[in-house]
Amino acid sequence: MGLVSGYEVIAECTSKGMVAGSFNTTNLETTMGIAQAIENTGVPTFIQVAPTNAVLSGFEYIYDMVARRVASIDVPVALHLDHGRSLDDVRAALGAGFTSIMMDASAYPFEENIDLSIQAAQLCPAEVSVEAELGGIGGKEDDHGPERETATDPSQVADFVDKTGCDMLAVSVGNVHGFHPDARIDTDLLRAVQEASSVPLVIHGGSGLPHEQLGALAEYNVVKVNVATDLRMAMIRTFGEAYTANPNEYSLIRVSQSAVTAITEVVEERIRIFNPKF
Ligand code: 13P
Repeated sequence: MGLVSGYEVIAECTSKGMVAGSFNTTNLETTMGIAQAIENTGVPTFIQVAPTNAVLSGFEYIYDMVARRVASIDVPVALHLDHGRSLDDVRAALGAGFTSIMMDASAYPFEENIDLSIQAAQLCPAEVSVEAELGGIGGKEDDHGPERETATDPSQVADFVDKTGCDMLAVSVGNVHGFHPDARIDTDLLRAVQEASSVPLVIHGGSGLPHEQLGALAEYNVVKVNVATDLRMAMIRTFGEAYTANPNEYSLIRVSQSAVTAITEVVEERIRIFNPKF
């Protein structure tokens, strides 16, 4: 099928009451693992990369790798820029062929956040969907923490969505980036945000949240849940275990293949947790 517009993933999921996982890749093994899980489950999905994780590859290699692999998958998959922090990030991802972008200007005051989100949207061709963020999500994405960690204020939501014209809204409702086993979504706050938002919501920090909460997110008009840390830990753990088991291990391909399998298992489990009815 090949890469599709982010709009197609959003439309497929919202029309069927599904939640798209949005899985962060960094390299070939992670991409292969994610793609296999998408094939196994058949659920529309985003594959994404943040600028902090593209420092080795650049966006072009990520695009080539993802586009080549999903060409043989008969499920809608969009390639998304995660946490674009500047208009240059957005330009670079669009130049590489990404089909969905996030402008994360949540560290800026409200009006500047709106302004930057509008400018990012104006750079995008009509088929590229746009995610903006209101409220600062806690925890760390790679080495980057939020400049401000603040819950999304429901009273600002309608105005923000209306003025930015964003297609998806990332919210801070108790979700945190990284490995935080005690993280929990404040469902009252999520409900208040949902009621104020005319567009579907995005939950970042999908790795540490309780499974029963993740399985209920479709009821809050959440269309996209980001997962990164779980995949990264699966890959690093596989290599660590291989070395511990045999410090003379030299079969890079065998260990790489085990890492792909470990990532597929994590992604497939997540997709099924997000979509318990499917
Ligand atoms: P986790 O690393 O907690 O899964 O969060 C990923 C994320 O939200 C990427 O934007």
